[in-house]
Amino acid sequence: MSGFGRYDWQFVITNCIMLVHIKDLVSEAKKNNYAIGAFNITNLESVLGVARAAVKADSPAIIQVSESAIEYMGLKPITHIVSTVAKNVAASVPIALHLDHGTNFDTIFECISSGFSSVHIDASNLALDENINLTKHVVKVAHAKNVWVQGEVGAIVGSHGDIKSKLKEIPLAKLEEVIKFVKETKVDTIAAAIGTAHGIHANEDIVFSLLKAIKDKVKIPFVLHGGSGVLDAKIKKAIKEGVNIINVGTDLKIAFCRTLIEVCLKNREEADPRNLLKPTIAAIERVVFGKMKLFGSAGRAVGNKIET
Ligand code: G3H
Ligand code: ZN
Repeated sequence: MSGFGRYDWQFVITNCIMLVHIKDLVSEAKKNNYAIGAFNITNLESVLGVARAAVKADSPAIIQVSESAIEYMGLKPITHIVSTVAKNVAASVPIALHLDHGTNFDTIFECISSGFSSVHIDASNLALDENINLTKHVVKVAHAKNVWVQGEVGAIVGSHGDIKSKLKEIPLAKLEEVIKFVKETKVDTIAAAIGTAHGIHANEDIVFSLLKAIKDKVKIPFVLHGGSGVLDAKIKKAIKEGVNIINVGTDLKIAFCRTLIEVCLKNREEADPRNLLKPTIAAIERVVFGKMKLFGSAGRAVGNKIET
């Protein structure tokens, strides 16, 4: 066995970044019928929270960043923070880095060259043919650099961080469009609107008949977006139906903000930011740990120590 463990991990070594390739995580998940959590991070505290949860749960994890997270932290700081934390805080578990909802070619191509092993091109708000053309372009560039591409059909509505609302309507993807899109673009993973939404909404759900129909016809890994606010039982059923990646963003933001607000209100005189922020790391760790157990990825990193 190599020092990299039983999965023959393929490391992305670009600009000294040492992360696991998403394809290794997902192929194991597919083989063993569980899902990997793709957690949206927004700051150092959330990266640490995800990393510590992964170690505690002995679980693989995908750390993903949105374009707004890149705008907030900067691409270089993010890639270096994630890779350094992966290497120094979570060396016993595999962690992959992914761009979530990329809508800007410059950002997507920068991520491809910066050590991300997967990028999401989200042109789902455009007409299907246009979505296909733009996605094909990204696939060509990404595959030349051994980077996976996630495509999206049928825009997933709602905003990350939206809470307690009821959406007027949650549109669904059309099965025939998903089939055509995957066939023509050659994406590696597929996201499609199947009833969930970004944020937490009273009327979001999973339309299992559509998920089943997609899984019958489309064999690449399915990514469930809008993982926050969906009942645990439905998440478990979705994994049984073949979902291999579950995106979670809002639940982490809520954990961070609620905890920070509470700690600040209780400690109005505190002058050391670390004393206010430490509990937010623990709060995110708790949420992510729970998701890893729910998704079945806990315990799946045993014996896969990354040697540094
Ligand atoms: O792309 C990110 C996810 O779909 C997050 O959705 O904020 O509802 O968990 P969520
Ligand atoms: Zn999403």
